[in-house]
Amino acid sequence: MKPQILVIGPYPEWDMVELEKSYDVKKLYEARDRDSFIANEASKVTAVATRGELGASAELIAKLPNLQIISVYGVGYDAVNLDACRERGIRVTNTPDVLTNDVADLGVAMMLCQSRGMMGAEQWVKDGSWAAKGLYPLKRKVWGRKAGVLGLGRIGFEVAKRLRGFDMEIAYSDVSEKSYAEGMTFIADTVALAEHSDFLFVTLAASTATRHIVSKRVIEALGPEGMLINISRASNLDEAALLDALENGTLGSAALDVFEGEPKLDPRFLKLENVLLQPHHASGTIETRKAMGQLVRDNLAAHFSGQSLPTPVI
Ligand code: 8YV
Repeated sequence: MKPQILVIGPYPEWDMVELEKSYDVKKLYEARDRDSFIANEASKVTAVATRGELGASAELIAKLPNLQIISVYGVGYDAVNLDACRERGIRVTNTPDVLTNDVADLGVAMMLCQSRGMMGAEQWVKDGSWAAKGLYPLKRKVWGRKAGVLGLGRIGFEVAKRLRGFDMEIAYSDVSEKSYAEGMTFIADTVALAEHSDFLFVTLAASTATRHIVSKRVIEALGPEGMLINISRASNLDEAALLDALENGTLGSAALDVFEGEPKLDPRFLKLENVLLQPHHASGTIETRKAMGQLVRDNLAAHFSGQSLPTPVI
């Protein structure tokens, strides 16, 4: 008998094929009526395979009495209710490391794209403005300017490494000074970090403790010339304050890969000229997604064969 796993949201076909070889896969995302689907399958489900942004709520966990493990496709596990898991001894795994470089690449690409106005520039070519109006309006340079990295973990460090290639001055904020942050200035206070930065990258793991760490004050400290780049989670910033600041110009611009309530983002974002919007795809390359899928399966396989988990959260 194959163990039964509940898959919360779809994975690429190559992962589904592999999962189906080893497990009796139940696809929650295909269920017409989720409640009756869960009620029918609940007692047989021993594992949940989910995605970073989908997680597993306390309500879902409570409905699965024989759940042993939740394998997250993503480094962020903030959407999994860890307290509910701890109470019942349910193991949780994620997919760190394999996605670090891609997430850092996209963050830096977003900074470049937004600062140099590349989306508007392409439009300028396509809509005939180049021929009709002439030169594209001048934009702001990136190299040599000041970057702040909020959260110098794996992803933040890779962002900083890339920014060095642009001869940027790099400062960071974290719970403590990092021994590996050679040549970077530690600024403990997030408002002071924002004040010091032209570009502020949000790269810290989200939790209840980091909720709205990028507050109205931080956003205003970054200022009308500053740019905020978020490749972590929307909950790390006060989105309402961000929208106000982008609308009234107290913040210069933003480049965002994550949103509250995504994929249904606040329609105010769609009206703004000074924001670059990306569909939560920082880890979205074929190579990285294949590695993430493999790690999801490696964790499940280790669990069901009594081996130690490759990348446990708890
Ligand atoms: C998503 C992520 O899991 O790593 C994370 O925390 O949010 C992402 O990698 C990915 O978009 C798949 O849904």
